[in-house]
This record gives sequence, C-alpha cells and structure tokens, in this order.
Amino acid sequence: MPGLVIVGAQWGDEGKGKVTDLLAERAAAIVRFQGGNNAGHTIVRDGEEFKFHLIPSGILYPDKACVIGNGVVLDPRVLLGEIEGLRRRGVDVNNLRISANAHLIMPYHVLLDTAGEVKLGKLSIGTTRRGIGPCYADKALRLGIRVQDLLDEKILRTKIRAALEPKQQALRELGVQRRKLRKEAGEGGGVTEVAVEDAPDPRLDLHTMTEEHVSYGHRLEPHIADTSRLCWETLDAGKTVIFEGAQATLLDLDHGTYPFVTSSNPIAGAATVGAGIGPADIDEVWGVAKAYATRVGAGPFPTEIGDEAGRHMLERGHEYGTTTGRERRCGWMDLVALRYAVRLNRMSALAITKLDVLSGLDPLRVAVRYRSREGALLDTFPYHQSILHGAEPEYEELPGFDAEISDCRGVADLPPEARAYLDYVSKFVGVPIKLVGVGPGRDQVVWLD
Ligand code: IMP
Repeated sequence: MPGLVIVGAQWGDEGKGKVTDLLAERAAAIVRFQGGNNAGHTIVRDGEEFKFHLIPSGILYPDKACVIGNGVVLDPRVLLGEIEGLRRRGVDVNNLRISANAHLIMPYHVLLDTAGEVKLGKLSIGTTRRGIGPCYADKALRLGIRVQDLLDEKILRTKIRAALEPKQQALRELGVQRRKLRKEAGEGGGVTEVAVEDAPDPRLDLHTMTEEHVSYGHRLEPHIADTSRLCWETLDAGKTVIFEGAQATLLDLDHGTYPFVTSSNPIAGAATVGAGIGPADIDEVWGVAKAYATRVGAGPFPTEIGDEAGRHMLERGHEYGTTTGRERRCGWMDLVALRYAVRLNRMSALAITKLDVLSGLDPLRVAVRYRSREGALLDTFPYHQSILHGAEPEYEELPGFDAEISDCRGVADLPPEARAYLDYVSKFVGVPIKLVGVGPGRDQVVWLD
C-alpha cells in the first residue's frame, strides 16, 4: 500500500488522527494535504494526551517524515506554538517538513474571517474563525504569502504590502474599528487604556508584520523543504506514504453542503494537488466515520437529533470541538450520506470509530433514505441545496447493546448486536470495515481484517 489516503467520511471529527496514528506504524511518511488549524485531533499515547491542529499525526514517530504539504494553509504562530509545546514534552520534531509552497494565514485573514461571520449574522457559516477562507481566497487571487516568502525580507514586505491594502479597505467596509490603545491616567491614580478611534490597528502594520514574519522564517527554516519530491522519492522506493485529510467529505468546498463547508477539498482526489503527487500514486483510500454522526457549525444535517439519544452521544462521546470547544450537533449514522462519501472518495476501506458510545442505546437507528418536502423518496444524496435542506431521514432500526465494549480487542469479543450493526453498515455502503474504535486509547481498537 505505498500511497494511502485517509479522509473523513462525514462532517469532521471522526477520529482520523487516531486511525492515521495507527496506520502510520507501517508508513515512512505522513503528509497533510489541505486545511489548516481549523482542524484538531487528539492522540492518546501511553496515557498521555497530545492535541494537534496543524502538525500531522505522525510526529510522535521520530523515524518517519512528517509533512505539511503545499495544500495546507499555515498560521506560523500556531505552528511554532505546537513545535515548542512538543519540544517541551521531549518530542523530537526534527522530522517535520513544511512545503515551501504552502500558504500562510496572516493576521488580516483571521480578522476578516471573524468580521465576515459577524456581518453574515443569521446566515453565518459558523467557521472556526482561524482565517481559513480568507487565506484560500488570497491564494486563488494570487495575493497569498507562501512559506518560502518568509526567507526573503524584501519579497515578503512587497507581498504583504500588496495584500494588505485591499484588506484594510475590506475591514473598514466590514465595520471593523481601527483602534489604537492609549494609556491615560485613570481614577485613583491608576492607568487605563483608552481606545483612540481611527488610528492604525497595530496588527495591520506593515513594518511590524514583516519583522515578525522574518523571525518566524528564521525559526521555521530548518523544516522548509520540497515536500513533493520527498513524497515521490519515498513512493518510488516502494515505501508507504499516508496522506492525511483534515475536515471531511461533506465539508468539501465542491462536493459538500455548500456554502456550509470549509474552503478546501478534504476528499481523496485532493491529495494529488495538495501533496504534489499523481492519481496513480494512490493505492488505497480509507474513510473514517463515527458509529453515529456529528457536525459543528451551521448547515444541513438530516439525521440530527435533539432527544435523549442525542444527549447520550454528546456526553458519552465528549462531543466538544478540539479547536473551538463548541458543543457538536449529534445524530444517527446517515448511510445515504456515507454511501455518497464512499463513492466520491472511491474508498477501499472504512474505519468506524466510537462504537463504544452507542452502548446503552436501543434501538439503534441508521438513515437509509430521505423523504423530500414533496414526499418523494430519495436513495441518493441530493445535489440540490434546497432539497437537502428539506430532506427528512427514514430509518432502519437495529437492536442495540448494553455491554461495555471498551475492552474488546477481537471481533468475537463484540456483542452480536454490535457486529450486526457493523455488518449492516458495511453491506449498505459496499465497503469492508477494517478497523473499529472502542475507546479513546491507542490500543482500544478491533481489527477486522
Ligand atoms: P472553516 O474551515 O473555519 O472556514 O469553517 C467552515 C466550516 O467547517 C464550519 O462549519 C466549521 O465548523 C467546519 N469545520 C472546519 N474544520 C473542522 C474540523 O476540523 N472539524 C469539524 N468541522 C470543521
């Protein structure tokens, strides 16, 4: 399996980090190919918890190349914070490689993301406000700043100047106050900070931003590399490379529930562009899905439930965002959407995570078709936004199980109802399930193959 892509099969937070971490044992390199620090994954290793937003899951293996590909958008402050955090915990980060072509999330991208969401009001997307959309927009506009630009102060300053001017105008139009804080003597002799309107925001100062980013460049330089070549050389030597997707299929900019999506393509095909490899370099595609479904942010979610079962999933599954801490919306597994994701990514295998969370729920429900507002039965995922927004799921009920399964390590240890549930899912979507998660720990998995 030299080229293996791992993608999210639902709306994100499926536990891709854990699956990547497990499969990474057999790989020589792990490459992230899209998204930025809107992602978040937690890996539990020897009882120790590691949370990452940007760094690929492979970083805990000192002998594997851990790569941030050209398709990623990278906030240098966040990345340096993660590198420092890992160093403090004694993790060797010398194997981290960053594509010179990856784009940088700049302070104005973060400001624009928030201002845009505020402006949208009730129509807001519920972004993570990490600057992802504005950064990818600049990339397409050819106003982006890339990692390689950090290494040349003159080029960096010129590019920031060109990018900054339209941002200042856009922020003014979006009503973001330009504020400067002035210290003044306050009551009782203390000092208070008073906002002076219409003075330049220090975060948007060309000189400060350039200086700061030159210093980021010095710190990141040892890691900057031609990462496409690194992928080719590893693949051509017959070694395995894992391409790790962030977010998930239904958040795909082209194929997800637009406009309630992220600004990149988290599907398997995008690994080619985001890592710089050819389609024939991909031998396997693994999709990761939870045994139920969750979504953060706004947008259609046909199987969302607000009842006891939903509460059970939220609490037992600790469904709170790693990046924003937001409560995730919970619901039953949607097999119409999953079958769509399987085909779109041409998945060769599925990993089902958090099966243990379903313990105690009876019956278990899975959506097998939708009914449109007009009463039509829909077996396929609707491409039209209005139809999807009005789609009501029709469920198949399957028997639940009460036993705790966190200690199961073989398929025979699982209760028959849990096995029947997995069989049903696998047959419905036409892909074998190869791995099942039964708890957060690295060893809490059942291999089915
Ligand atoms: P953005 O990627 O920050 O622009 O957010 C766009 C949409 O994608 C919002 O609904 C976010 O909640 C969602 N999103 C982005 N990253 C993740 C993720 O890693 N997990 C789940 N949802 C995400």
